[in-house]
Amino acid sequence: MVLSAADKTNVKNVFTKIGGQADEYGADALERMFTTYPQTKTYFPHFDLAKGSAQVKGHGKKVAGALIEAVNHIDDLAGALSKLSDLHAQELRVDPVNFKLLGQCFLVVVATRNPSLLTPEVHASLDKFLCAVGTVLTAKYR
Ligand code: HEM
Repeated sequence: MVLSAADKTNVKNVFTKIGGQADEYGADALERMFTTYPQTKTYFPHFDLAKGSAQVKGHGKKVAGALIEAVNHIDDLAGALSKLSDLHAQELRVDPVNFKLLGQCFLVVVATRNPSLLTPEVHASLDKFLCAVGTVLTAKYR
């Protein structure tokens, strides 16, 4: 998935606009994923997944942090996410389909919290970016 210069600008703008609320976007996306696609809960048997759970909030912050790191190194996603890629592919062994689900949920969270931000062009760019992140995080299965 190749991001054009315009895609990169769109993605950077989204994260600039989200700014300090990125942690909440991350937590909302996780909460939405667990509700909409309950099969994703199987990877978190050790978490309290109730609505408003402090663990989900904490994890949302980590996911948002990783996305921000990815945006800051948008020309080297594989390098920026290398350790996380080892973790997801080799240790956690999360089925790749789940990354599409979390990506979709993140897009819906942006759409609901900040509707004017998600023009069709920005939607397309953010979708490409989230797919690229998922591809990197699932690149090291063996
Ligand atoms: C852990 C990011 C997708 C399951 C993590 C961590 C980060 C992260 C930053 C914490 C790593 C650490 O503590 O060192 C991401 C990003 C994703 C993504 C950016 C995609 C955009 C997924 C998906 C699943 C998943 C789709 C499964 C449905 C897990 C699990 C952990 C984890 C089970 C360990 C949680 C714990 O025990 O604390 N992820 N993740 N991740 N991730 Fe992901």
